[in-house]
Amino acid sequence: MTTGLTREQAAAKVMVALDKPDAESALRLADALQGTGCWMKVGMELFYAAGIPVVQGLKSRGFNVFLDLKMHDIPNTVRGGARSITRLGVDMFNVHAAGGIAMMSAALQGVKDALEAGDAASEPIVIAVTQLTSTSQAMLNEEIGIAGTIENAVVNYARLAKRAGLHGVVASPLEVQAIKTACGADFVTVTPGIRPRGADAGDQSRITTPKDAVRVGTDYLVIGRPITGAPDPVAAFESILEEMSE
Ligand code: C5P
Repeated sequence: MTTGLTREQAAAKVMVALDKPDAESALRLADALQGTGCWMKVGMELFYAAGIPVVQGLKSRGFNVFLDLKMHDIPNTVRGGARSITRLGVDMFNVHAAGGIAMMSAALQGVKDALEAGDAASEPIVIAVTQLTSTSQAMLNEEIGIAGTIENAVVNYARLAKRAGLHGVVASPLEVQAIKTACGADFVTVTPGIRPRGADAGDQSRITTPKDAVRVGTDYLVIGRPITGAPDPVAAFESILEEMSE
């Protein structure tokens, strides 16, 4: 069975996790992928090293940017953080659902503050991290102290995010169908934990192939090391697009 995606449609669903230690290596990879239509995800490693200029560099190259800083703090602090992030002009950012409804609503308020002050050109998509894709069932129950299945915990967080008014969540592709059933088809799902056939899982626990992620209805596939750690990252990216559309 084919997924029926064109190469362009597949590329628009891929967020390349630019987990690089400096702007130079990040922008080198971005240049190689410019024009493909994929997103760029800037996380802690790159942002804490290269900051705002690297986000601007990606925006000026035409990329949609997901700023993955996973805010988790008291509501007032998250509101201010969200206001500052919105001013950067990113297309998506995230908070932890574990911060609760008041904290997630405060993030949306921060976006509103920036828009109303005329400090931002566009409204970013705001999503919540549910359970990290490195979290296993045993970790959830024995270390973190949440009872029940991972799927239940993730769906519970997704419901909270929806109640707070967020646009979607980060989860594993394994939970996408349950999230869509609970929160609606247009509730955005962003899924790390993607490993092409034969790739190393690394520290990820809840993984699927690119094709299976597309099949279950994932909106965006976050892919890092299978691309950034490949000897030829562009070839790896292209082969993932093929896997997604075959
Ligand atoms: O290299 P890999 O494909 O595992 O990269 C996954 C990316 O997604 C990393 O940048 C990681 O920080 C991020 N992420 C994740 N799980 C979450 C949220 C974000 O793996 N729940």
